[in-house]
Amino acid sequence: MELPVPPDVVRAAYAELVVTDLAEARRFYVDLLGFAVSAESDTALYLRGYDELIHHNLILRAGPEAAAARLAYRVRTAADLDRAEAFFAALGSRTARVPAGVTPGVGEAVRAEDPLGFTVEFFFEADWAERLQQRYDLRRGAEPARLDHFNIVVSDVRAAYEYYTSLGFGLSETIEDDQTLYAAWMFRKQTVHDMAFTGGDGPRLHHLGFFTHESHQVLRICDILGSRHAEAHIERGPGRHGVSNAFYVYLRDPDGHRVELYTSDYYTGDPGHPVLRWSVRDPRRRDFWGHPVVPSWYSEASTVLDLDGRPCPLLARQQTAEQAAEVGADGYTRLSAEPLDRQLAR
Ligand SMILES: [Fe+2]
Repeated sequence: MELPVPPDVVRAAYAELVVTDLAEARRFYVDLLGFAVSAESDTALYLRGYDELIHHNLILRAGPEAAAARLAYRVRTAADLDRAEAFFAALGSRTARVPAGVTPGVGEAVRAEDPLGFTVEFFFEADWAERLQQRYDLRRGAEPARLDHFNIVVSDVRAAYEYYTSLGFGLSETIEDDQTLYAAWMFRKQTVHDMAFTGGDGPRLHHLGFFTHESHQVLRICDILGSRHAEAHIERGPGRHGVSNAFYVYLRDPDGHRVELYTSDYYTGDPGHPVLRWSVRDPRRRDFWGHPVVPSWYSEASTVLDLDGRPCPLLARQQTAEQAAEVGADGYTRLSAEPLDRQLAR
């Protein structure tokens, strides 16, 4: 099928999460992690990192059930809203125009239920926020700089890769073998990714990745969580990813939404940037130091909502029973029972 020209996506810009206790969420994201508050009401918080100049990177909205309401991309021009509408209409996706101001700080937007089952938003106009980059006196916690990427759980990683390719995204890294694409990292801005796919029952949001400038900020938030006896929020890491080379830690918020604090990936903006393909059998792919991935990281993720705010039904992961038994969600994870000499011989 010949698709219309896609909207010119600049970058992943913000996400809206539904949280069941806004005061608890505020303590976690603002008091502990250190996000800046752009605006707040009795029912929602609008947060951004210290480098961010658009209104927000994260909306936390109070609701009865935790969920991810939408993933929003900034586009290059106002005309890209029309392109987004035509593109998703050609895919058979339901779309909606959202007038300026419905989301505080955001102009007119187009939302769509994409072919993977996620509600995605495209906007051009946004209110500029106060520049906080050099307000070192305000910084706390992990000193998050900006939203870096979305990571989503999809039942068919190859279909997700093909759809995002049609939307104009480039491919930076993969986890694969001869038969199967287990995971892929795709970008519009000139970094490793704006979007990545993890194989599993989907659609679900796996995590939101927020950029910090330095690895010590990733370590510092772990120390702060330990000091507050809030260490249960630390799910995985800190560590070094093989894929992306990033230094990372994964946290779970009070509702179980997963947040990654992430730094030190690399430039991908040259035309023809070569793809880095990781073998699914390489134990360094998910953690460069070979640490096993905790099972919850593969199995748990956030429910996503459709355009009407209803939970999306899940599709089971496309895989053989053998893959499910042997390779987990994206491949072989080192088993601690494996003898050291065999691990070293690989
Ligand atoms: Fe990530």
